[in-house]
Amino acid sequence: MAILRLPGLIDPHVHLRDPGLTHKEDFFTGTSAALAGGYTTIIDMPNNKIPITTKQLLNEKIKIAKEKIVSDVGFYFGSMGDNLDEFELVADKVLGLKIYLNQTTGNFTLDSHKLEQIFKAFPHNLPVLIHAIDESTEQVIQVLHSVKRPVHIVHVSSKFQLGKVIEAKNNNLPITCGVTPHNLFLSEADQQRLGPFGMMKPPLRSQKDVEFLWKNLMAIDCIESDHAPHTTEEKMKSEVNNLSLRAQRSNLNGIATSSASWRIPRNDIPYGVPGLETTLPLLLTAVNEQKLSIEDVIRLCSDGPSSIFGIKQDEQTYIEIDPNLKFEIGNLKFHTKCGWSPFDGMKVKGKVVKTYLRGEKVFEDGQILAKPGSGGIIP
Ligand code: NCD
Ligand code: ZN
Ligand code: ZN
Repeated sequence: MAILRLPGLIDPHVHLRDPGLTHKEDFFTGTSAALAGGYTTIIDMPNNKIPITTKQLLNEKIKIAKEKIVSDVGFYFGSMGDNLDEFELVADKVLGLKIYLNQTTGNFTLDSHKLEQIFKAFPHNLPVLIHAIDESTEQVIQVLHSVKRPVHIVHVSSKFQLGKVIEAKNNNLPITCGVTPHNLFLSEADQQRLGPFGMMKPPLRSQKDVEFLWKNLMAIDCIESDHAPHTTEEKMKSEVNNLSLRAQRSNLNGIATSSASWRIPRNDIPYGVPGLETTLPLLLTAVNEQKLSIEDVIRLCSDGPSSIFGIKQDEQTYIEIDPNLKFEIGNLKFHTKCGWSPFDGMKVKGKVVKTYLRGEKVFEDGQILAKPGSGGIIP
């Protein structure tokens, strides 16, 4: 097959860490990883070191982004339930509100009793995105019955959770959901091998859960990488003595192929894995294996997020992929600052060769051609 042209992809769930944690990622390296992965638009989460819960913090973040981005970027606002007055002030600057009902990176968890108030207060033309696990998904759906407003459940990962979303959809509730590449292409069987590099929220699930996600792809509205970079140093902070730490470190350049079994890490190991540069190659490989079609990829990575978050991309914003190019993930020259991948060692088929933003070639053969600040802020 010859070179294929696809619309520029949209990733509605990334953590670019800027400002506050720019040793992990920043707006330039994060948006460079996006372009290299075939993504022309990404939406950044608000769990910065200082969570983005005021108009002022949002404006400061946008100002920093403007100087550095090479892809288009949108933002979500954050809430712990005590900033409802700010919602109206930021409504024209964000693409949604993100709330965390369960623990993850950053201390940002909302008391579920505040859900109803938030559902009412945030403008109903924008979605509320929710980080939830099985039980809190049920709570969300409960509240959604009384306050009907668009809600997007991020990173659904279990059979139970997706089952609940499907049930809610069948009851005509205004609910959508996304799934991550790591919950589609890895399972808990990979956990031991990956150690801290396979630790994220929600965690890797059983083969049964993974199969349920694949079987019900039509009920999933988008694929979101949940690109959540942490440095290798941060990931390696396990409770071991220096000797075994050195042994683990020497395994780092082949985390997937080594037979190292990791000690149970301390719970200050940060959760999250990068994903922007690996999602499309994994999906194209799955297309090759006929696990899904190229039309599914366009629905999940372009049309789906475009309609949920109201994003219109220019006709001249597109990517060129070589569906036959084979490579090993670990051999990629990563643009993400963290420089590693939980998919290291996997052989894939299908690569982004060029990325265009509004007719301008911004990425070609591994090189970023765009200048910092040339990306656009959405809306
Ligand atoms: C994310 C992070 O590191 O910011 N971590 C993760 O494990 N997914 C936060 C999140 O999306 O829950
Ligand atoms: Zn999350
Ligand atoms: Zn996330």
